[in-house]
Amino acid sequence: MAEFRSSIATIQDEEFDFLKDLIYKKTGIFLAPHKKIMVQSRLNIRLRHYNLAGFKEYIHLLKTDKSFFDNELTELINRITTNKTDFYRENHHFEFLRDTYFPMLEEESKQNGIKKIKIWCSAASTGEEPYSIAITAQEYFAGKPGWSIKILASDIDTNVLNTAKEGLYKEERLAPVPDRIKTKYFSKQIINNQVFYQANPIIKSMIEYKKINLLESPFPIGEKADLIFCRNVIIYFDKPTQKKIFQGFEESLKPFGFLIIGHSETMFGISDKFKFLGHTIYQKKS
Ligand SMILES: C[S@@+](CC[C@H](N)C(=O)[O-])C[C@H]1O[C@@H](n2cnc3c(N)ncnc32)[C@H](O)[C@@H]1O
Repeated sequence: MAEFRSSIATIQDEEFDFLKDLIYKKTGIFLAPHKKIMVQSRLNIRLRHYNLAGFKEYIHLLKTDKSFFDNELTELINRITTNKTDFYRENHHFEFLRDTYFPMLEEESKQNGIKKIKIWCSAASTGEEPYSIAITAQEYFAGKPGWSIKILASDIDTNVLNTAKEGLYKEERLAPVPDRIKTKYFSKQIINNQVFYQANPIIKSMIEYKKINLLESPFPIGEKADLIFCRNVIIYFDKPTQKKIFQGFEESLKPFGFLIIGHSETMFGISDKFKFLGHTIYQKKS
């Protein structure tokens, strides 16, 4: 058996540059020089996984061994992505669904008879965002016959998608969720003396999961969406990448479909295919 190595390997500038270029090419995420220590600490676990002495060996394998590269790329990306999220994060967007968007669709359905909604949550992380959408929709449409609401939750990171699919959250993650909603849509579980909440089948069955890289448009979402959530990820991409992604969203939306981005993100000067409605909510112009 090989010797167990426990020390932290340090990353050299040229090793960081190689990984930075690779991550940028594969995910669009731009790692500024000050992210070097973050990359070093997040990837040390991969080095330990292979019992490698340092980044030199890791990068050598990435460069020379195609099957290693193909297997490792997903794990490498999973370690680098930033997955911060919360239930009801930027709550005004869920209020918009409840107070404006769903009533609008309900009103339109009286004319066009359409009672089907497809929402694509395109950077879903560990699931708090798609579950918040599912709960908001369920609260609005339950008891209104004939409505079908489907949410496609995607992310580039397969680890977070697995967490989302499982729908099991530590008690503290549920802090932004009102008690009434918590009791209605989650069941309490004690695992190893810790309190968890498990999403119930009603909201779970509304969500489908798929790995989708926002760099690879046209996006494989099947039927076009009525509404796309893409919050707090556009900020990691440079302008040309953002432009391409917004173009892909426009093609993935039905006519006059909606797009919601994060509070610190903007489409200003990047795409003119959308009308700005306020609160980082946009509508496709045609
Ligand atoms: C900061 S989280 C935001 C999660 C959620 N949208 C929210 O606002 O709470 C950003 C997510 O974008 C994902 N991501 C990063 N690059 C991506 C790409 N090229 N394609 C798809 N998802 C990506 C990350 O894996 C991460 O889960």
